[in-house]
Amino acid sequence: MSLLIDFGTSVLRMLVARTDNLIEAASMVALQEGAPTVAGDEALKMVGRTPKSVQLIAPIEAGVVKDGPAATDMLKLTIASFSSRGGMLRMPMTFALPANLTSVERRGLEEVAKNAGARQVEFYDSLVAAAAGADIEMDQPHGALVVDMGAGKTEVGLLSMRGIVEMRRMPYGGQAIDQTIIENIRREHAFIIGQQSVERVKQLLGEAEAGDEPTFEVIGRSLTTGLPAKMRVDRDLFWQPLSKYYSQVKDLIRQTIEHCPPELVGDVMDNGVALVGGGALGYRAQAELAERIEVPIRVAAEPTTCVIRGLAKLVASQRKSTEKVRLRA
Ligand SMILES: Nc1ncnc2c1ncn2[C@@H]1O[C@H](COP(=O)(O)OP(=O)(O)OP(=O)(O)O)[C@@H](O)[C@H]1O
Ligand SMILES: [Mg+2]
Repeated sequence: MSLLIDFGTSVLRMLVARTDNLIEAASMVALQEGAPTVAGDEALKMVGRTPKSVQLIAPIEAGVVKDGPAATDMLKLTIASFSSRGGMLRMPMTFALPANLTSVERRGLEEVAKNAGARQVEFYDSLVAAAAGADIEMDQPHGALVVDMGAGKTEVGLLSMRGIVEMRRMPYGGQAIDQTIIENIRREHAFIIGQQSVERVKQLLGEAEAGDEPTFEVIGRSLTTGLPAKMRVDRDLFWQPLSKYYSQVKDLIRQTIEHCPPELVGDVMDNGVALVGGGALGYRAQAELAERIEVPIRVAAEPTTCVIRGLAKLVASQRKSTEKVRLRA
């Protein structure tokens, strides 16, 4: 038995190997006067609502551990909330993580797992896992492109035979879009809204397309009066940052294809590009990325869980794409 982990910037996803027991929890921990209290969705509910004595930490950023002790606390608390006897904490842990991390960044994650109780830690490339989760056939020497549009990072990989031939990444994704939207609304309307409001509107953007309502009502705080208020915000303030992100992702896809060995170009044209990660669910993601790109683009089924489900497939087939690290207890 081993515990499979996709440590996302916004969501921590775990799966006990060879089961369907998928755990998804916000990638966040709350500390009360320095001591960890709750993690996951309980901590997420506290955003913007904490007294000074409570500190909220999102310890993972773009696949990298930003705060080791907080990441350990988060892992322990989240696992404990799903396994009362702590058995899961002692399982070997298998992580999906970005292929191009430095050895220091990789060791940071090893430390977190070890401090949480794991005796053995294994790593797999997250893009290879993503491709497996998107049902891309990778045992043959046949190229395929996968794009992971996450909360804290965006990665494009050209894969063949379970390995990465070429990859490009940007250290930002959905969360940076949210911040830009918040900033735009603050500048245009002297009005502050929270990230949860932005997330809600981002999911409604498609509904405004019908043309009946080109604005969205949001609740926030007026900077002029200092009071809570409602405000109607033009959908363009949400759409512009999203659209800019899509053109950046398109550039990454183009750069990856440009560096693609000629033998694999034909494969990519045949197989197309699979979009995974929460950003793949974004309004017009597929349509915008497909514009003026010669390769077919599809959104993978259940894009947010492709990495963790793909990791399960890779582990089940027992073929590793990166090294195995055994830690002393
Ligand atoms: N319907 C939607 N429209 C737009 N964006 C969405 C939608 N659903 C999810 N997202 C975005 O997807 C992001 C979360 O995606 P995901 O769960 O893949 O990230 P993660 O794995 O936690 O992060 P990372 O892989 O970057 O470390 C959030 O930033 C969220 O805004
Ligand atoms: Mg992710």
